Amino acid sequence: MAKITKLDDIVSLCKRRGFIFQSSEIYGGLASCYDYGPLGVELKNNVKKAWWKATVQMRDDIVGLDSSILMHPLVWKASGHTDKFADLIAECKKCNTRTRVDHLKEKIAEQSQEHTEHIAIDTAIAAAGELSNKTCPNCGSVGKFTEPMPFKLMFETQMGANVDDSMTLQLRPETAQGIFANFRNVLDTARVRIPFGIAQIGKSFRNEVTTKAFIFRTREFEQAELEFFCQPGTDEDWFGRWKELRFNWYTDLGIRKENLRLREHSGDELAHYAKACVDVEYKFPFGSGDWQELEGIANRTDYDLRQHQRGMRTLNKWFENGRDLANIELAEEAGDYQSGPLSYFDDEQKARYIPYVIEPSAGIDRSALAFLVDAYDEEQVRSETRNLLRFHPALAPIKVAVFPLVKRDGLPDIAHNICNDLKKHFNCFYDEKGAIGRRYRRQDEAGTPFCVTVDGQTKEDKTVTVRDRDSMDQIRVSTDQMLSYFREKLET
Ligand code: GAP
Repeated sequence: MAKITKLDDIVSLCKRRGFIFQSSEIYGGLASCYDYGPLGVELKNNVKKAWWKATVQMRDDIVGLDSSILMHPLVWKASGHTDKFADLIAECKKCNTRTRVDHLKEKIAEQSQEHTEHIAIDTAIAAAGELSNKTCPNCGSVGKFTEPMPFKLMFETQMGANVDDSMTLQLRPETAQGIFANFRNVLDTARVRIPFGIAQIGKSFRNEVTTKAFIFRTREFEQAELEFFCQPGTDEDWFGRWKELRFNWYTDLGIRKENLRLREHSGDELAHYAKACVDVEYKFPFGSGDWQELEGIANRTDYDLRQHQRGMRTLNKWFENGRDLANIELAEEAGDYQSGPLSYFDDEQKARYIPYVIEPSAGIDRSALAFLVDAYDEEQVRSETRNLLRFHPALAPIKVAVFPLVKRDGLPDIAHNICNDLKKHFNCFYDEKGAIGRRYRRQDEAGTPFCVTVDGQTKEDKTVTVRDRDSMDQIRVSTDQMLSYFREKLET
C-alpha cells in the first residue's frame, strides 16, 4: 500500500508545484493527456538534453534528425504498422466497455494492475484463452464478452482542404520510421560510415486502449530513439554494448541501481521486426508495485530498410490503385535486395549490404516519471515533514534559488544582481516572499540543489550563505567564488 500512496504523493506534488497538469483542465480534463507546467517543462527539457548529450553530442558516430510527424502512408504500410500495429480487444456486452484481452483476469481484484506494452496479436490470442471465465474490469460481469477483435492503434487525420484530393494520414506511433525513411539522405550528406547512428527526439501518438498511472502510458508522448546501423554479424556485439550504455545512462543520472534492471524478451513477446529485445525496467510504485518498461532495446536486423526498399517499388502501384492501400501488397524484391537503393557500400569490406539496426528506444515522459519517483523523498526534520526531490543537478529544473534574507536594507537589489549574473549560466529563481524556512522548503519540493541567501554580512564581506538541498548544510561563499563553486557542484 505504501507504494500506491507514493505515486499519489508524487501526482499531488506535481500539481501543487507546477510540474504536470491534466490537459484541458478548465473544461473538465481530457483523459490520459497531460501538460507540463513551468517546472515540468524544465525537467523534461533537461531529460532530453541529457539524452542528446550522451547520444549525439559526446559521440563521433551518431548524428541527429528531426523528421515530421506526418508521413506518407506507405511508410506505415512498409513498416508493418498498418497491418500489425493493433491490440486485441473484447467488448463487454453488458456495459459496452472495451478491454485488451491480454489484460483480462479471472478475478476483479487482479484488475487494473496491468501495464504491459503491446504484444503480438497471436500472443494476445493465446494469452486471452477462454473469455467465458474472464471478468469485466468496469462492471464486474463474468464471461459477457464479444469475440476478440483487433483495435488499430494509429490515430488518423485528413490532409488537404478539398474532399477530392484530401488523403488520410496517420500520426506517427514511433519516431523510428522517420529515421529509416531518411537513411539515404543522411548517408549521402553527413559523411557517416558504418557503424553509425541517427538519433531523434519527438512526439508519438498511440490510441492506447488502456491508459493509466499518470504519465506512464498516454496517447500522446515523446520518444527518444536511436537507430544504430552496423554490419550484419556485428549486431549482437552492438546490442550488448547498447544494453550497457543505456542502463548506465539512467544510473549516471541518479536512478538507484536496485530500482533498475534489464529484462530479455522471450520469443513470443518479440515485436514483428525484432530478432532480440531487452527492456530497461524500473520498479514503479503502482499496479502491483512491479517492474515496468522504461525503454526497449531491440535488434531490428535489416527488417525496416528492406521493407522500405520494397515500399519504394510499391509506389507506382499505389498511384495506379487510386491511392487505395487496402489491396496493395508490398512489391516483391527484384533481383538482389542487398544492392537495392537503401543498401550501403562498405569500403573496408569491399561489399554492399543492407545494414542491421540496434534500436534503443526510450520514453521521455516515462523517464521523467522514473526520475521524479526515484528523487522523491520525505524526511522528518524536527517536528516537520520535509518533502524533497533529490534530482541529479543536470535534471533539476532550477539550479540555484537566490533570496534576500529580508526585504529591506538594499538586500533585494544585491540578491537580484546575483541572480541575474548566475542566470547567464544556468536556470535560477529569485524569491523574496515569506519566511526564509518556507522559501527553503519550496525549493526542496522543486528539487533545487542550492539556495543562496543574501544577508547583512553580505554587505560587509561580500559573502553569501549557500545551503545544500540534500544535507541542508550551510556554508559561506564569497560572491567572487560563487560561479566557479556552482559550476563545479552542478557539473556544468
Ligand atoms: N520504435 C520502437 C518503439 O516504439 P516501444 O517499446 O513501443 O518501441 C518505446 O516504445 C518506448 O516509448 C517505451 O519503452 C516507452 O518508454 C515509450 N512509450 C511507448 N508507448 C508509450 C505510451 N503510450 N505512453 C508513454 N510512453 C510510451
